[in-house]
Amino acid sequence: MDFFDVVRARRSVRAFLTKEVDAVALRRLLEAVTRAPSAGDLQAYEVVVVRHPERRRELARAAYGQTFVAQAPVVLVFCAHPRRSAGKYGRRGAELYCIQDATIAASHAQLAAVALGLATVWVGAFDDAAVADLVGGLDPVCIMPVGYPNEEPEPTPRRSVDELVHLERLPVNPGVGATARMGRGRPGSDLVRGDP
Ligand SMILES: Cc1cc2nc3c(=O)[nH]c(=O)nc-3n(C[C@H](O)[C@H](O)[C@H](O)COP(=O)(O)O)c2cc1C
Repeated sequence: MDFFDVVRARRSVRAFLTKEVDAVALRRLLEAVTRAPSAGDLQAYEVVVVRHPERRRELARAAYGQTFVAQAPVVLVFCAHPRRSAGKYGRRGAELYCIQDATIAASHAQLAAVALGLATVWVGAFDDAAVADLVGGLDPVCIMPVGYPNEEPEPTPRRSVDELVHLERLPVNPGVGATARMGRGRPGSDLVRGDP
């Protein structure tokens, strides 16, 4: 698929076939993940591949009962690895770059999945501590069920380029800058909490 076709075709899919994910396809997806850019090329994230049905159910429970998490044959959990980034970048590495690294990597996974005929959904609503416990301790950024789609969702609306892109400078709106600054000043885990 052409890159722009992949971008256009991606949807959040929340219904999966029981069919196992092809091992070669999963490997290709994970290779695409590792090609993601990262701050200082430190790749300050880890990916946990969860296949065991009971562990998938536990992840679904930790995601406040989002049952499709357990339905997908593979669930990837992208975790930030603060210490990997903090060594070089200090607080900014621990609170921001490692989360950005994990986020970009997860985004690669979503697009690679489409190119491979697979489907995903980004799950950000979960109990941080419960998921961290399940996967072994690092800060979870995203739970990502992966499987063959069993639904074809319609595209969701998007703000237009004209609305959200600004020439040279944002329009005058003090609230925008203040929100962004608050977000950056908080500890890393706060950046992944909240209702998506
Ligand atoms: C940071 C983030 C958190 C999200 N959390 C959830 C979630 O917990 N559950 C869910 O079903 N979808 C979640 N989504 C998926 C969004 O609902 C979805 O991307 C959005 O509605 C746009 O639809 P599309 O992905 O089909 O284009 C999340 C997406 C992002 C980027």
